[in-house]
Amino acid sequence: MKKILLKLLLIFTFMFSALSFGAEKLFVGTNAEFEPFEYLKDGAIVGFDMDLINEISKIIGKECEIKNIAFDGLLPALQSKKLDIIIAGMTATDERKKFVNFSDTYYLAQQMIVLNSDAKTNIKTFDDLPGKSVGVILGYTGDVAVSEIKGVNVTRFNGTGAAIMALKSQKVDAVVLDSEPATQYASQNKELVVIETDAAKEEYAIAFRKEDTQLLEEVNKALKILKENGKYQELLKKYNLIKE
Ligand code: ARG
Repeated sequence: MKKILLKLLLIFTFMFSALSFGAEKLFVGTNAEFEPFEYLKDGAIVGFDMDLINEISKIIGKECEIKNIAFDGLLPALQSKKLDIIIAGMTATDERKKFVNFSDTYYLAQQMIVLNSDAKTNIKTFDDLPGKSVGVILGYTGDVAVSEIKGVNVTRFNGTGAAIMALKSQKVDAVVLDSEPATQYASQNKELVVIETDAAKEEYAIAFRKEDTQLLEEVNKALKILKENGKYQELLKKYNLIKE
C-alpha cells in the first residue's frame, strides 16, 4: 500500500512539474537605467514599465521573467529568442519596425538636452549643438538624432548613468536624453538643468518578434483593458507621468 502511495506521489509530482514547465514563461528584456520607466531600487528592477508588464502578464495569464541587459543588446536578444518581449521605454521608430513589431503606444516622450546649470555653453536648441561635445547613450534614439546633426562631437556611453556622470565632470557639454529620465536626473542633481526642445514626439511601445503576432494581439488587448479600467492611469500617477 505504502509503495503504491509513494508511486502515486511520484507520478503527481512529475505531472505537476511537467505542467509548470508547460505554462508559458515569457522572457522580458529591459535596461534598468531609465527612471521612472525602469531602474534599480535596493537591487530590484522597478518602474512604470515593470508595473505595466506585470499587470499585462496577469491579464494574459503568462509568467514573466525580467532580464536586465544593455539597451543596444535588447533587439538582438529578441531576434535570437533570448527574449520574447522588450519593454524599455523603447521608441517605436520606423527603422526598428523593419525588424520587430510594436504594441500600441503606451507613452509619448521627446528628446531633451541636459546641461550643467552653470554652463556658459549657450546651448538652447538642437541647432546650437554643432561644435559642442555631446554625450548620448549607445543605440538610443537620442544617439540617432544627434548623430544626424553635422559638426557635433558625439561621445557614446554605454548607459544613461555614465553619460550624466561625464556631463557632471564636464567631459561633455551636454547630454541628449528622453524627457522623463532627463527631468528625473535634473530634479535629483541641482547642478543639472534640462532644456525642452521642439524634437518630434516619440511613441514608447512594447516590442515583439515579427512572427509573434498572437502575443502582440494579446498584449494590445490587455493594454486596452488597463486603459479602460483605470489601472494604466493609476500607474502614470504613481510615477508622476501625468502631464498637465
Ligand atoms: N526611447 C529611447 C529609445 O528608444 C531610449 C530608451 C532607453 N531605455 C532604457 N530602458 N534604457 O531609443
